[in-house]
Amino acid sequence: MEVIRSVIFVPGNRANMLERARSFDADIIMVDLEDSVPPGEKVTARDMAREWVPTLHAEGKRVMVRVNSLDTGLTRAELETVVSPDLYGISLGKVESVRDIRTLDSLLNPLEAASELEIGSLRVIPWIETAKAAWDARAIAESSQRVVAIAFGAEDFTNDMGIERTDAGEEVAVPRAWVPVAARAGDVGALDSPFVRFQDPEALREDAGRARRMGYTGKFAIHPAQLEIINETFSPSDEEIEYARRVVDAWDAAEAGGRGSLALDGRMVDVPVVKRAQNLLAFAEAIGKAS
Ligand code: GLV
Ligand code: MG
Repeated sequence: MEVIRSVIFVPGNRANMLERARSFDADIIMVDLEDSVPPGEKVTARDMAREWVPTLHAEGKRVMVRVNSLDTGLTRAELETVVSPDLYGISLGKVESVRDIRTLDSLLNPLEAASELEIGSLRVIPWIETAKAAWDARAIAESSQRVVAIAFGAEDFTNDMGIERTDAGEEVAVPRAWVPVAARAGDVGALDSPFVRFQDPEALREDAGRARRMGYTGKFAIHPAQLEIINETFSPSDEEIEYARRVVDAWDAAEAGGRGSLALDGRMVDVPVVKRAQNLLAFAEAIGKAS
């Protein structure tokens, strides 16, 4: 699975933000053409995205563009403008069904061919942010080989439901918990909604920690100051790595002695615990954290 812990939004019409994005420490830079761009600026934003994707890619970044949803009539022209060999993929807002991903697929295939990209190589991150999409989230996750992760959008979700958004977030507890389960069933990553109080780092830490405990593999940022906390939250900590190593070592010793479970620090350790520890160590290694 691709490592995607942090994805930062950069509005496509903001040259100063795009310039600053060169130094953002995010796993993916997401140039946005959708809801952070006002209607009158959509064409400017897509032209600026075309210009900036190669520049950001040249800085060693994976760059995606979030295009407007299929019902806006803007999607095709946006894809035609931004697809290039420097692009990592496309994110599609307000997906309603598997059919939307099929349509996106059929729009991307000829553009990849024209850009001398391998057909199917551009990745896709669909937004699960309507009731319909939440219901079909697993099918959407599995709808194309292109899908690397699904994203939960709490703002649009509450809009679609006709309910208020609160700081505590109990109104989205069910879909927010559901998206990582659907993602896991579809064998893709799960990315949590942005945390909108961008000047409150402690609240972000708590919110991101909750998302990780639910099974999210990463989270969107709307401000660069959020990236350090997000990257840290979705990476195993030194203590977790240390404990996982002790579990694996103790298990190896127990197995060698013909035992199928053991006690470590007063806790039972059996096969699923060992598998979790092995997975955590493999992930730590994938992000260069295991020494
Ligand atoms: C993000 O796109 C959201 O709607 O929350
Ligand atoms: Mg949205």
